[in-house]
Amino acid sequence: MHHSKITGLGFYVPEEVVTNADLSRMMDTTDEWIIERTGIKERRFFKEGEDTVSEMGKRAAEIAMQRAGKKAADIDMVVFATLSPDYNFPGCGVLVQAKLGLGHIPCIDVRQQCGGFIYALSVADQFIKTGFARTILVIGSEVQSNVMEISDRGRNMAVIFGDGAGACIVESHDEPGKGILSTHLHADGSFATDLSLQHPGSRLKNRVTHEMIDNGDLLPTMNGKMVFAHAVKYFPEVIREALHANNYEDKDLDLLIPHQANARITAAVQKEFNLPDSKVVSNIHKYGNTTAASIPIALTEAWQDGRVKDGDLICLAAFGSGFVWASALIRW
Ligand code: UT7
Repeated sequence: MHHSKITGLGFYVPEEVVTNADLSRMMDTTDEWIIERTGIKERRFFKEGEDTVSEMGKRAAEIAMQRAGKKAADIDMVVFATLSPDYNFPGCGVLVQAKLGLGHIPCIDVRQQCGGFIYALSVADQFIKTGFARTILVIGSEVQSNVMEISDRGRNMAVIFGDGAGACIVESHDEPGKGILSTHLHADGSFATDLSLQHPGSRLKNRVTHEMIDNGDLLPTMNGKMVFAHAVKYFPEVIREALHANNYEDKDLDLLIPHQANARITAAVQKEFNLPDSKVVSNIHKYGNTTAASIPIALTEAWQDGRVKDGDLICLAAFGSGFVWASALIRW
């Protein structure tokens, strides 16, 4: 049986920084409210014509490939996680394949929202374990700023989300006990509408009407309290599931990299595991919640900052729309 490990990391965020003060000039909100409820100070907004989801994914991927010492011809497969693809179809995997000149390799798009990156990593891990592929490019990339309404009506969501991309190279190796030790994936579709964007959808004869636009039906909706309550339950559960599956305990964890949903959710998880700040990665104050991009951005930054060391036991964990929740345990 083959094993997989991450051998290169990269991220890209758009140049435009949007602060809480900027948002408070466009809607009824304040810097204090946003910081207190979410921990976010600023986020990035994409530039039209420059930073599409596939383009940002490509830029993050180029850095990851260069750091892993990989050329286009070395990549066997692309797994691309996003809830905000450039087109309704085809997905962003094939767009990145063409942009990077990867040849006619398979491309899979994963639509698991905030859980997208860990689901994508798990897909890559399975394909490597079976020997189907040796080197896989995994990307998480999102543009959220243009689906939020920057107005009083959209304020409960618009202040939370941001744009950006992260990527990694996952490679086959034959050293047991190193690399991705296990991944754990869950979902509960009975909460599908508690964080969703339902229009335009295929279930209606007229996918888009003027009425929908006027009603704000083309905006995402979120039952924030419901999301929060489930997140603080399932983050710890799925982290412990990963630790126990590998015969580890809470105290063995060297670094926790949670999906950057909300600083208060991360703080609750940190408290549950009694972890010092040095063992928990949080960069939501700089980028907001970038959905499928948040974990690869946070992992890349942590690695760049020297917080990811050889031999460390690292847990990635996510919760989000679906609901989906997931974890990956890695021996670096
Ligand atoms: O990856 C998963 C992504 N989602 C999440 O992680 C979301 C999880 N949920 C949360 O983080 C929180 O529920 C929120 C941050 C979204 C909201 O915090 P909350 O403490 O649950 O606030 P709330 O929705 O109960 O709203 C409290 C008040 C309301 O006013 P009233 O009714 O008390 O007068 C809202 O209208 O805050 C108001 N409000 C705002 N005020 C200023 C809602 N959004 C804003 C805003 N600025 N942006």
